[in-house]
Amino acid sequence: MQVCRTVQEVREFLRANRHKGPVGLVPTMGYFHAGHLALMHRARRECATVVVSIYVNPLQFGPAEDYSSYPRDPQRDLQLAREAGGVAVFMPSDEEMYPSGYATYVEVQGLTDKLCGRHRPGHFRGVATVVTKLFNIVRPDRAYFGEKDFQQALVIKRLVADLNFDLEVLTVPTVREPDGLAMSSRNVYLSPAERQAATVLYSSLLKARNAILAGERDPRRIENLLAEAINAEPLARLEYAEVYGLPWLAELTRLEGEVLLAVAARVGRARLIDNMVVVVP
Ligand code: PAJ
Repeated sequence: MQVCRTVQEVREFLRANRHKGPVGLVPTMGYFHAGHLALMHRARRECATVVVSIYVNPLQFGPAEDYSSYPRDPQRDLQLAREAGGVAVFMPSDEEMYPSGYATYVEVQGLTDKLCGRHRPGHFRGVATVVTKLFNIVRPDRAYFGEKDFQQALVIKRLVADLNFDLEVLTVPTVREPDGLAMSSRNVYLSPAERQAATVLYSSLLKARNAILAGERDPRRIENLLAEAINAEPLARLEYAEVYGLPWLAELTRLEGEVLLAVAARVGRARLIDNMVVVVP
């Protein structure tokens, strides 16, 4: 398996392989789980060459966030990528991505004022900047993102449309543990009791969806239902429970069309998010 550590190496690899057909990019921060592997498998099916980037991007972490303790295991990641088969890995250093003198940032406005953007100032600026750099380094035909980070995927779609990137953004459904917990590298922070409590995010979404399917059309009542379900779990601290219209997170006064239910909560030291798209009958 090709492992590139510099921009020059990945460019040389692609120069030798681009003629084979479409190039796919799977951006990640590593510490792979089945969600990352689902993105890789999808990319492999649809692209002749797949580059998986592994880079814990310091720019998207706030000063009080978990950048230094974010789980990392590059050797295990390389092994899992090798087993997935048919992917090349791009694993740059901080110096390679942000050499001294670095001064350019990408900001997507509007969309990033709500949900995670409101609670993590600067987060999406960090994401948009690193993903822009990866797009320019790899020049993929297709880039793959998980629906687990629904707002992130929307921000990237906005960025691609607004800055005329010649690529397609594809999204992959959230991969879950058998009890519904969305897979996340941060789940490793959970103690056994917290791991049990963490299922409240998904169960709150299921309750809210059932209420909509049973006829509830008031978005505020759905937000309250989500918040109450999460607050009923003593080990969970609610960050947000919000409902928006799709495709672009419209503020709603009545539920109709396709809507996004999105929740975030702290469980122990883990900040967890989850979401569900509901087609209102
Ligand atoms: P990371 O959290 O490592 O996630 C990498 C990709 O895997 C993202 O597109 C994310 O949505 C997807 N993913 C995570 N958990 C998933 C799950 N349970 N099911 C399906 N897909 C899942 O997201 C990032 O890294 C970074 O912000 C990044 C885009 C790499 C920019 O630094």
